[in-house]
Amino acid sequence: MFNKKNIKIPLDKFIDRALYHPKKGYYMQKVPFGQYGDFVTAPGISKIFSEMVFLWLISYWEKFYKDRKINIVELGAGNGEMIFQIISSARNYKKFYNKCDFIIFEKSNKLIKLQKEKLKNQNVKWLKNLDKLQNKPTIFVGNEFLDALPIKQFINFKGNWYERYVQKHKGIFNFTKVKCNIERVENKIKLKLSKNQNFLEISFEEIKIIKKLNNIIKKNNGCVLFIDYAHSNQKMFDTLQAVKKHKKVDILNDIGNTDISHMVNLSFLKKITKNLNLKIKFTTQRKFLLNLGIMKRAEILANRASFLEKANIFYRINRLIDRRQMGELFKVILLHKKNKQFNLGFK
Ligand SMILES: C[S@@+](CC[C@H](N)C(=O)[O-])C[C@H]1O[C@@H](n2cnc3c(N)ncnc32)[C@H](O)[C@@H]1O
Repeated sequence: MFNKKNIKIPLDKFIDRALYHPKKGYYMQKVPFGQYGDFVTAPGISKIFSEMVFLWLISYWEKFYKDRKINIVELGAGNGEMIFQIISSARNYKKFYNKCDFIIFEKSNKLIKLQKEKLKNQNVKWLKNLDKLQNKPTIFVGNEFLDALPIKQFINFKGNWYERYVQKHKGIFNFTKVKCNIERVENKIKLKLSKNQNFLEISFEEIKIIKKLNNIIKKNNGCVLFIDYAHSNQKMFDTLQAVKKHKKVDILNDIGNTDISHMVNLSFLKKITKNLNLKIKFTTQRKFLLNLGIMKRAEILANRASFLEKANIFYRINRLIDRRQMGELFKVILLHKKNKQFNLGFK
């Protein structure tokens, strides 16, 4: 993946190669999810998480597209667990189920294979190019999708802006910086970001994807629901991290065998959506799940469970909603057209 003895590449290129190099990238050769993997995501903690997402999806459809056909597209479906549970729930609501085309947009061929195995009895299509989506209202949903996209970082050092690069010199990796023209960067993305900042963290890939999703929902209607590791600080800071076996590790160590992610910056996301004339709403995962009735659903399941199973159900829900665990670190973000009013989960 980085075969040459000496290289020097921008951080986002480095992350992209470390995660998605066709042969040696992390997501191209590993299945990182679960207790015995490197990290656990919400759909793997409790199926009730995906059931709540399903409830939200069917409610959105009912409010805006009742009796119409829609696409439900999962962005970055990992091991396929969330869409599996969404479809399982949807099967109980035939009117909705019969109107849905379920689609996965996934970059990793290794994970596509795994998803195809898990979903072999379900009616799911895979797309590598979102332009090929059929023209009908489309609801995009992505759990921990944005935080897995590559980012760039810029540092203001003694009044000059530098871009963060990764270099390999005589076989050893380290971070370095290269002087840059920050105005040119800002002009490229049509966003003024550097005022009052001495550090910038920007995902060009995030901007590109959101533009693409915006074009689709502007043309065909629909919305985007992201659930991501995110913060809303005005001041940007370094949120890049690598994780292996559930522990933070050095980003430049064991490249290709660790997950690299960052925290989505909601202030930055707001600026992108403002430029695109999109409405944005966000709340914490805790509030979203409580608002959708996660406790009621847990009680129903617990009613027919043994004592141990009951404890397990509530232990897992606590991981999802507890303020010190995922409850506040994770945010649920809704993007749709300005004229849409939909508050379920965001009250
Ligand atoms: C952190 S994992 C989350 C997986 C899953 N949603 C979950 O919650 O367990 C990120 C997922 O997004 C996929 N992904 C990352 N960048 C992508 C891109 N540009 N296009 C499509 N999929 C992408 C990865 O391959 C992986 O499946």
